[in-house]
Order: sequence, then C-alpha cells, then structure tokens
Amino acid sequence: MSKKIRVLVNGARGRMGKEVVKAILNDPTLELVGAVDPAGTEEDAAVVAGLPACGVLLTGDLSDTIEASNPEVMVDFTIPQSVMGNIRIALQHKVSPVVGTTGLSEQDLQEIREWTASYETSCLIAPNFAIGALLMMRFAREASRFFPHVEIMEYHHDQKLDAPSGTAIKTAEAIQEERQKINQGHPDEEEIIAGSRGGEFEGMRIHSIRLPGLVAHQEVLFGGLGQTLTIRHDSITRESFMPGVIEAVQRIRSAKGLVYGLDKLIF
Ligand SMILES: NC(=O)c1ccc[n+]([C@@H]2O[C@H](COP(=O)([O-])OP(=O)(O)OC[C@H]3O[C@@H](n4cnc5c(N)ncnc54)[C@H](O)[C@@H]3O)[C@@H](O)[C@H]2O)c1
Repeated sequence: MSKKIRVLVNGARGRMGKEVVKAILNDPTLELVGAVDPAGTEEDAAVVAGLPACGVLLTGDLSDTIEASNPEVMVDFTIPQSVMGNIRIALQHKVSPVVGTTGLSEQDLQEIREWTASYETSCLIAPNFAIGALLMMRFAREASRFFPHVEIMEYHHDQKLDAPSGTAIKTAEAIQEERQKINQGHPDEEEIIAGSRGGEFEGMRIHSIRLPGLVAHQEVLFGGLGQTLTIRHDSITRESFMPGVIEAVQRIRSAKGLVYGLDKLIF
C-alpha cells in the first residue's frame, strides 16, 4: 500500500472539525498526525469526536504542532477571524491547507494566491464540500442563461457567524459569469423594513435565514414568463461534507497555487 497522507485538523473540537477527525481516522489512505483547537487541549482527538482513543492529543498552538507532527495537509474548519493566520502559518511550513472556513473576501483570496506562490505550496479554499451543492451551483449557472431573474435563499443553523454563506456568494458569482446583467424587481420598490429584499449582488438578491435545527440548505429560484424553476440542495448532516473533504486532502498536493472551489479539483 502506498504511503498514507499525513493530516492535521485545525478546529478539531468544532462541529465540522470532529466530523473531519472521524472521516480521516476511517480512511485507510490518510493518517491523523495533529489536532489543534485552543478551546481545550490534552484530550485525545478521537475521544472528543466520539471514537475510541487514537493517541493524537488536542493542542493549542498551530505552529508548534506542525513542527512536532510534520503534516502534509492541514484541514481548517475554524473561525473567520483566525483563518488567514492559520493559512499563512501552514503555507510557511509548506503544508497544504484544505480550508472550509467561510468569510474570506476577494482581497483575502488574492493575498493567499501570493502566499502560495512565494511558499510554493498549494492551497484549496472550498465554500462548500458537499458534492450535491457543487452540482446545484453548476445547474444554477446553466439555468441562468435562460432564466436571468433569480433569487438565492440560503438556510443555516443560528450559530453561523457570516452572512450570506460562502456557497450563496459562490453561486451568485457563477450565475453572474453566465447570465446577462439585469436589475431585478420594480425600479421603484421600497423597503418598509430595512433588509427585507435581502443582500444585493450584481442585481440579484440573496436571503440568509438562520434557525436552530437547520444544517446547510440552499434554494436558487428562477422566475420566467408563467413559470418558476427551483434548484435546491440540503445538507442534512455534516457527514455530507466528508467525501468532498477526503477527495480534497487526497488531491491537493498535486495541485498548483490557490484552488478556489472543490469543483476545480474534482470535475
Ligand atoms: N466549506 C464547507 O463545506 C463548510 C461546511 C460547514 C461549515 N463550514 C464553515 O466551517 C467553519 C466552522 O464551522 P463549525 O460549525 O465547525 O464551527 P464551530 O464553532 O463548531 O467550530 C469552530 C472551532 O474552531 C475553533 N477555533 C477558534 N479559533 C481557532 C484557532 N485560532 N485555531 C484553531 N481552532 C480555532 C473553535 O474553538 C471551535 O472548536 C465556519 O466558518 C463554517 O461556516 C464550511
């Protein structure tokens, strides 16, 4: 059997981090070598994730853990405030980041692109690791050629920190590349309550719903003469993201520079 890929999980105590720890431990091609999360250290990462102990203890400092455990890939599901620093540390150590943390701006992506060049190490940023969500974005892009009037509704659990979701932004960007630009709705429309029409992106509207009980869901609604078309994807559990994360970990070392979107790596 070929050598296992050495993986560090950053944010290993989080909802996504724990799923990633489980997925890595269950994959015969990968080896968990480090698990970082400042929220609590010294416990076995597998036990925190609900599995029998694996011998990798949670630690609090990313640099020190990279130096001690020598990973090839870092999977990051942390918080928008820390993710840029984490990516930089990983790249400086020639570790390829596979990043699911959302909230990165276009300017951040440009900066990461420059780091990948100066440290000669690849990096994946994926606003959504669910393969069904990637297909939803593809289909939405195609539909917008025929149905330029579109609104995006995204639904997430109420602990999510950023709005709109990275997936909604990426969907809007994909649609914008394909459809003719139009300003939707009535030109004289007025919001009686601020924000009622949602966020505006290149003439499209994006609506973010936050409720307990939700995981990650999105509808892309198209309206045409006498008809509507709805494309919907639901992540029902966080396991839905894991096949995409594993594919990314397996492929990122052979990619070059910054890869933005899992679709660029797997389609
Ligand atoms: N790309 C995707 O497919 C996808 C899917 C789901 C969630 N997300 C994103 O992943 C991120 C995490 O989501 P979550 O629900 O797991 O959040 P969470 O709050 O459950 O977990 C975040 C974890 O990061 C830890 N953390 C904070 N600062 C850190 C640092 N400097 N270094 C290491 N760990 C740190 C926290 O202690 C916490 O345990 C969010 O940005 C969310 O939007 C992306």
